[in-house]
Amino acid sequence: MCGIVGYIGSRNAYPILIKGLKRLEYRGYDSAGIALQNGSVNVYKKQGKVTELEEHMMGMDLSGTMGIGHTRWATHGEPSDLNAHPHVSNNGDFTIIHNGIIENYTVLRTSLIEQGYKFKSETDTEVLANLIEYIYRSQKVSAEDAVHLALSKVVGAYGLVILCNQENDKIIAARKSSPLVIGLGENEYFLASDATPIIEYTDRVIYLDNDDVAVIKRDELILKSTKRNDALKPRIQTLDLGISEIEKNGYDHFMLKEIFEQPRSIRDTFRGRLNLEKNEIKLGGLYNVHDKLIHAKRIIILACGTSWHAGLVGEYLFEDLARVQVEVDYASEFRYRNPLISEEDIVIAISQSGETADTLAAIQLAKEKGATVLGICNVVGSSISRETHAGVYTHAGPEIGVASTKAFTAQVTVLTMMAMIIARSRGLVGNERFAGLLNELEDIPEKIDKILQQNDKLKEIASIYKNVNNALYLGRGVSYPVALEGALKLKEISYIHAEGYPAAEMKHGPIALIDENMPVVVIATKDSSYEKIVSNVQEVKARNGIVIAVVTEGDDTIEKMADHVIEIPATDPVLVSLLSSVPLQLIAYHIAVMRECNVDQPRNLAKSVTVE
Ligand code: AGP
Ligand code: GLU
Repeated sequence: MCGIVGYIGSRNAYPILIKGLKRLEYRGYDSAGIALQNGSVNVYKKQGKVTELEEHMMGMDLSGTMGIGHTRWATHGEPSDLNAHPHVSNNGDFTIIHNGIIENYTVLRTSLIEQGYKFKSETDTEVLANLIEYIYRSQKVSAEDAVHLALSKVVGAYGLVILCNQENDKIIAARKSSPLVIGLGENEYFLASDATPIIEYTDRVIYLDNDDVAVIKRDELILKSTKRNDALKPRIQTLDLGISEIEKNGYDHFMLKEIFEQPRSIRDTFRGRLNLEKNEIKLGGLYNVHDKLIHAKRIIILACGTSWHAGLVGEYLFEDLARVQVEVDYASEFRYRNPLISEEDIVIAISQSGETADTLAAIQLAKEKGATVLGICNVVGSSISRETHAGVYTHAGPEIGVASTKAFTAQVTVLTMMAMIIARSRGLVGNERFAGLLNELEDIPEKIDKILQQNDKLKEIASIYKNVNNALYLGRGVSYPVALEGALKLKEISYIHAEGYPAAEMKHGPIALIDENMPVVVIATKDSSYEKIVSNVQEVKARNGIVIAVVTEGDDTIEKMADHVIEIPATDPVLVSLLSSVPLQLIAYHIAVMRECNVDQPRNLAKSVTVE
């Protein structure tokens, strides 16, 4: 998810910075930029790849033994040369690069405009650059104190590296939620989002903690906290990882990393959107269609693959909470069946990549027929996000593994927030129920953490079934799409045939498949259909079937029947798919690894299907 590099010492900074950005490319990005300090600050930045930035900089003044570099994963403002980092404050005092999201940037931007500041970009980062400059000039403090004071006004997540034109012997770095590492050399320091760009120069590093602010000169490093102004003793660690592991932060595959990122990615999805104090949810990207959305007679959800499964979860949520009629279509089917669409319809296109050809074509058809089309995308500035009238970015960060995991739970999180907004606006969910759901949603990341702690147990279960030829996944209600998603995960990365089915449908055919060789994964968490799913488990066991059951913590009924029980924390039935999908991701992952499949790039698959 974007990247930061920095250097201060006696070497030429440019080669170190450009190589460092290339080492961070695996994190996914849409733009890149570098600032070099050689008496004054020269800024070069471009939308596109690091190599395009490199070409752009050829022939330019690349001197300077101090500088910063950035790869952007856009969150506020589309990928463009103007929105790329570094950003320079109005009077040129500060040049900054930023990983993360400034939640209260709108308020800050408005007050800075009142002070005469003008903005060139759409980013939240430029607001921070001007806030630091405004404080620096109005309060006549040091650069680092201006940064301290500015950050005390900021709500959000940041990894920041800052140059000050007037105090050009230092680099200032600050961290809150977005990681930053400082590499310690001999009278030189290296900065980066992770150790990948640093390890070839030094293995001595300091990982900044939240609220840390570092002031780095060639011959000294001072660490402070925005919480307290006294100096902190830096904790110097020695790296013992090779570069290849670091790119995956120590995980064997991007898919595993992304599964384990879900507590963080879900927090990022609702960051700045949930407000527990005010008991409200704000989705800024839907403001211009709010009335149409809450008065919609019908919602049509269009997507492919995993995103289509998220859409099915959305159907349950919109109908159950908001009492809106919903239709979920494969985009590829919708676009060719001459569908009935009216101007009163709201169409929601769900796509991680925002580039899926079938989904893109389906929304163009919907627009031609007069529907209002919304997008739920993960890639800012992607084609689908540009084609839709409004939308919500999932903010899950780049998903590199072809098998979608964190994007699915991020999509379901957005759909949940949308359903809650509509239900509340329609008076169908009162303040108390809304507050309860909001608190439960806020607790989801922590509950996923608890599930991830069962990784070894899930690996053990996977080892038993790694050589099966078929598998069946069953669920009822909102767990039916989870069953479909669990089956897709297994088949697309382990190449084992698996299918998801509504549990009640099993007796209309699939029950003929049940035998002692085929595992049946049953999502059997506590909800209104629990008694029915217990019967389905009994039906499988009565035919010598194998049952792997996902149950609510403390379930003492199914554990007596099933061959394996995976407990997940209790939550509101509306939110359970955010939890029950996680163990299925891990089981599929471990089976695929044990079968020595190419987990991150499964055969025949592409991360984004941009062709029909
Ligand atoms: C999911 O694991 C697959 N990689 C695939 O089904 C994917 O969900 C589908 O191609 C849709 O992609 P999108 O979300 O980028 O539109
Ligand atoms: N929020 C900033 C922007 O949209 C930084 C995004 C990032 O982390 O790269 O430019």
